[in-house]
Amino acid sequence: MKPATVVSQGRLRGKNIKNMATEQHRQRPIYDSDENEDHDSTTLIRWNNFDFCGFSLKIARMMDPRLGISSYIWDAGISLCQYFEKEDVTFTGKKVIELGSGTGIVGILAALLGGHVTITDKPDTLKQINSNISINVPFACRHRLKVRPLTWGEDQTKFPTDYDFILGSDIVYSSVCYPALLETLRYLCNQGTTIYLSSELRTGNGSIPFHDVILPDYFNCEVVTRLEPKCIAVYKLTKIGTGHVRRVCGPLSLLAPKKKKENPQSYPSGGFERVMPGSRGPPFGRF
Ligand SMILES: C[S@@+](CC[C@H](N)C(=O)[O-])C[C@H]1O[C@@H](n2cnc3c(N)ncnc32)[C@H](O)[C@@H]1O
Repeated sequence: MKPATVVSQGRLRGKNIKNMATEQHRQRPIYDSDENEDHDSTTLIRWNNFDFCGFSLKIARMMDPRLGISSYIWDAGISLCQYFEKEDVTFTGKKVIELGSGTGIVGILAALLGGHVTITDKPDTLKQINSNISINVPFACRHRLKVRPLTWGEDQTKFPTDYDFILGSDIVYSSVCYPALLETLRYLCNQGTTIYLSSELRTGNGSIPFHDVILPDYFNCEVVTRLEPKCIAVYKLTKIGTGHVRRVCGPLSLLAPKKKKENPQSYPSGGFERVMPGSRGPPFGRF
């Protein structure tokens, strides 16, 4: 799994992306091309600048080994911000929760776009998110933002279930986490919730069958944008209601890199078992 690399403006069709690349930078992490360093009392901080939807964001990444993958800004997160920009998505007056936020970039943008946003991640990550809120969100908007610890499969019942939007970028990356993530999504989602999941589909981690096979058993799934060279797709999900016809957007696995044929039985977690439509048991034990 690699963090964000710079992608050409033409492919992403985003507007005003400061970090847009020249050819020679394309394979480098995005923060190498426009990055500054700083320290607080204990931690090295790296800064990256982005422009989305008319907002200039300065995102801090804390170089703390405990943060691991949370201290990167992932391509899937940038792609979701660009999707909001391209589609003029607004969250005005809407109740939003972001899962696995990392630096907070997606949730912060949702708040700047008018949302009442709860940004969540594991506890160690919250200091980084709070720093980014204090830098990027004007005082007048801060009352619309909360930062809370939410470990999937453990904490979701402490949260309400009346969200208009659930956001997640690059949170489908390890099959070990999928049962807990699915449990969390199903708990937080109501009939009126729209979920945006932006995912980089990687072979060998079960992300393709998770989107292709598991999610459609619980949600209407639609790919609303895709970034072919990086195999990133933004999915729009809504909860399947009783009596509703299940809508699946087709063979999403066409997005997968061609080199390896997906074999669910070979995934580290032991593979997925196809769940027949109508079966609605707890997800555990089926991965
Ligand atoms: C690949 S990073 C993506 C970060 C950010 N969304 C982005 O796009 O830049 C995955 C994030 O999911 C969080 N995460 C992983 N497992 C989790 C769990 N079980 N509960 C809550 N968050 C989790 C990690 O802490 C990390 O911030």
